[in-house]
Amino acid sequence: MDKTGVLFVCLGNICRSPIAEGVFLHLARERGVLDRFEVDSCGTGSWHVGERADSRARMSAERRGIELVSVARQVDPERDFDRFTWIVAMDRSNVQSLLRVGAPKDRVHLMRSFDAAAEKDLDVPDPYFGGDDGFETVLDMVEAACAGLLDRLAAQ
Ligand code: 4NP
Repeated sequence: MDKTGVLFVCLGNICRSPIAEGVFLHLARERGVLDRFEVDSCGTGSWHVGERADSRARMSAERRGIELVSVARQVDPERDFDRFTWIVAMDRSNVQSLLRVGAPKDRVHLMRSFDAAAEKDLDVPDPYFGGDDGFETVLDMVEAACAGLLDRLAAQ
């Protein structure tokens, strides 16, 4: 069986999308479906290429037993839009940036659209310039949304 490609995208690829990648891998492993997926993350910007996830993101995730393994890279339209059928953006600005560089609209989704309990604002807020509690909020949102995404993918 071909693996389903899931790509998580934010601006810098050092906070939100590495968290989403780590949480998704963690939940998929818990559910025993890890081998069904090819999972990665990237940023629409290039400022942090080559860096590990922000230390605050890594510490917050570690407290929940989740390891963040990503090394930041920028989206690569030629490869990524072919390889990944689920392109999951953290906020609406990321969606616009992805569409601008040619992402197929039917493959691009907002992360929180998979959380049935999410209210109107579906953006995962950027925690980079804020305090530590911002990372806890991101983790809470991403955990709920990744569970919903896995439910959706399991139902296919
Ligand atoms: P991320 O957070 O998009 O969740 O990785 C950011 C990280 C860095 C910057 C912006 C957002 N920055 O401007 O450097």
